[in-house]
Amino acid sequence: METKTVGVLGAGTMGHGIAQILIRSGYTVFLHDLSQQFLDAGASRIAKGLNRDVEKNRLTAEEREKALSRLKTTTRVADLGGADFIVEAVTENLEVKAGAFRAIEPYCGPEVIFASNTSSISITRLAAATQRPDRFVGLHFFNPVPVMKLVEVVPGLQTSPDTVDKAMKLAESVGKTPVRVNDSPGFVSNRLLMPMLNEAAYCLMEGVADAKGIDDVMKLGMNHPMGPLELADLIGLDVCLDIMKVLYESFRDSKYRPCPLLEKMVNAGRLGRKTGRGFYEYPQGKA
Ligand code: 3HC
Repeated sequence: METKTVGVLGAGTMGHGIAQILIRSGYTVFLHDLSQQFLDAGASRIAKGLNRDVEKNRLTAEEREKALSRLKTTTRVADLGGADFIVEAVTENLEVKAGAFRAIEPYCGPEVIFASNTSSISITRLAAATQRPDRFVGLHFFNPVPVMKLVEVVPGLQTSPDTVDKAMKLAESVGKTPVRVNDSPGFVSNRLLMPMLNEAAYCLMEGVADAKGIDDVMKLGMNHPMGPLELADLIGLDVCLDIMKVLYESFRDSKYRPCPLLEKMVNAGRLGRKTGRGFYEYPQGKA
């Protein structure tokens, strides 16, 4: 069956970005979230993103309108029954994600593939919470979704080759480069990235350099587009902490111990750009 309609669960940072590239590539999208307020915020970010494409002559105004007409927002899980493929991008928590899949499953046909955009939770474990572990796969996008080329495609223990194939094709059809990665905590991306961001927080906590100094070292010395602390603010310090906890608890290795400063900042509600303050301040307010 050809995928034409995709259900996206969660209209936040990742969900709205995924919905944006899908409608831009010709898919009809049912974007689901718990409140109309979250959906309106997501839809407005999508419209802004597509406006940017029009300004940059990458899209005509007519194509933008057509793309926007393919976006349907909904707070009712039953509406997801119209989708051929589901991409989940809700809060990074096993119970929340499993609960979202359980809620939609009665409305979805047996052929529908479920994909999770989890950044570190076991795909095998999430798949086991559904009735279709063979049609369940990890589809890990990167922030900002419209810009970053990579999608990690992660089969769980029971994922069928056909499901992997369809997930790879979906990623390619939205202009991404899929890389197949086995189901292991943090996959490849976050197993490498998060310990670096965590170590940058340790450097700051121990006074090795200030935040700008740490970021300048990685930008000027390693050609990273953003320093690790700036990047942590972009991703969200709560997300970084959650991923470090998954790595620490899964491998039971002290090298993944979350930095106490990171924990303290999350406890204080300094989550990065989204709250207006993280390692840096964002005077324009919340991003
Ligand atoms: N949303 C959409 N588009 C964005 C954006 C955002 N948040 N931020 C920047 N862009 C677009 C800009 O509009 C611009 O596009 P255009 O000029 O062609 O229209 C383009 O990206 C470049 O932006 P800028 O010129 O403003 O700035 P930079 O050249 O510094 O690029 C960046 C910004 C792309 C964010 C770059 O700094 C970068 O690549 N940073 C690293 C990002 C990264 O590592 N992401 C992965 C995070 S890990 C992750 O997501 C995994 C998860 O599991 C945690």
